[in-house]
Amino acid sequence: MLEDRNKGDEAKMRITVVGLGYVGAVAAAALAHSGYNVVGVDADWERVSAFRQGSCPFYEPKLPELLSSGLAAGRLRFHHPEEMTTPLGEVILVAVGTPSRSYGGTDLSQVRAAIRWVPQYEPGSAVLVMKSTVPPGTGLRLVAEELVNSGLRYVANPEFLREGQAVYDWFHPGRIVIGGENEEAITLVKKMYTGIEAPLLITDITSAETIKYAANAFLATKISFVNEMASLCERVGANIDDIARGIGLDPRIGQSFLRAGLGYGGSCFPKDIRALDFCSAVKGYNFELLRAVINVNNRQRLLPLQALHAAFGTIKGVKVALLGVAFKPHTDDSREAPALDIARLLVEDGAEVRAYDPQAMENARSLLPEKVVLCESALEALRGTQAVVLVTEWPEFCELPWEQVSRVLVPPRLIFDGRNALDGRELMRLGFYYRGVGRSGPRWEQRHQENNQ
Ligand SMILES: NC(=O)c1ccc[n+]([C@@H]2O[C@H](COP(=O)([O-])OP(=O)(O)OC[C@H]3O[C@@H](n4cnc5c(N)ncnc54)[C@H](O)[C@@H]3O)[C@@H](O)[C@H]2O)c1
Repeated sequence: MLEDRNKGDEAKMRITVVGLGYVGAVAAAALAHSGYNVVGVDADWERVSAFRQGSCPFYEPKLPELLSSGLAAGRLRFHHPEEMTTPLGEVILVAVGTPSRSYGGTDLSQVRAAIRWVPQYEPGSAVLVMKSTVPPGTGLRLVAEELVNSGLRYVANPEFLREGQAVYDWFHPGRIVIGGENEEAITLVKKMYTGIEAPLLITDITSAETIKYAANAFLATKISFVNEMASLCERVGANIDDIARGIGLDPRIGQSFLRAGLGYGGSCFPKDIRALDFCSAVKGYNFELLRAVINVNNRQRLLPLQALHAAFGTIKGVKVALLGVAFKPHTDDSREAPALDIARLLVEDGAEVRAYDPQAMENARSLLPEKVVLCESALEALRGTQAVVLVTEWPEFCELPWEQVSRVLVPPRLIFDGRNALDGRELMRLGFYYRGVGRSGPRWEQRHQENNQ
């Protein structure tokens, strides 16, 4: 576990975190660990009472330990907004949700509600730190529309943590971006990060907001780029694994976010890319590259369906196992996960779908079509199915005993590896029909043919 950082003057600062999702709960627990007195506030009573008892209402590795130690040390408390009685402290973090609206813009209702609530409890000149991802220009608008008579000082401090590694990322961020107009407020936010080593970038509010969107848009672009290359690979007979490695070894390109597959999902990339596209359109700019990134990403989700149609003709009545519901491994977050669209499309075409995820079954219940059979283990999901779609590359799926799996599957035993995470050649040797994304080329084809002789 991380070393307790309760030392020095910074221990005395009081901080309130409004919104206790993946970002806010991690921030609250991590700041308490750093020695601050932290109050976490959430509008969801159930969430508040779970946190009070030291249990985490969602899956985030290492967060439960951090919560328990903060509670035990008496530096971490949780309240519903209606229960607050005391001033909120010198720093107030806002980490509420900023979901998409149907037209692609950002729904700021949670942010506005949080900001309107703060001055009732904090009449002084506290610093309001925006951790939520809000479109460029939002901070200045909020200052003008919501904070004029409040005395609160506004600072944009976008969050870059990754679900599944959020606690590590809080203490080891790639950079800390602080956007503000008031020196004293910026200094206080810097102080909040005492002990965390990372490049510090001080900007104006709108630039800080834009950095967050630019980062997500760039990473999404890498994903869609490699997926475009994968489609080309299938047509020219090249292997995307080799291409990705071959270009990723160039330090100007880098290896990360170059794995071909079913594309990005989750609670950030899809909504943030749409929001940036919408923001550009509103400002009269046609951000063509973003449109392409979105279109390619939508197309990737059709790949398993196309592969199954090609193999079976019709997929009515075909039994399919979906491995993975979460949008990526090591999280239970299934918002905008590829599995949701894939399951819906399969069910619409009459396939009989069985699904399993190591952490996301609770979320799966409300998000997947009713007809999907939810299973308690991977083997249970696989039993009796003719085809498997690997949607999320959880380690437990990559390490499945495939020889045993081949006995519970029924012919033709087709595996669509939506993350290029499995050893396709070994699977072909075991008698499976294997399809990855862009994994073609003479070496693949040759094995496939050898297997079928
Ligand atoms: N999840 C991530 O990996 C991640 C990473 C970086 C940035 N972000 C951004 O951080 C923000 C929060 O993301 P999240 O995934 O933690 O959100 P979330 O949806 O998981 O949690 C938001 C929480 O805010 C609470 N809430 C809503 N309105 C409230 C109000 N008025 N007062 C008090 N509580 C309120 C909700 O009950 C909920 O618990 C979003 O803007 C997101 O884009 C998320």
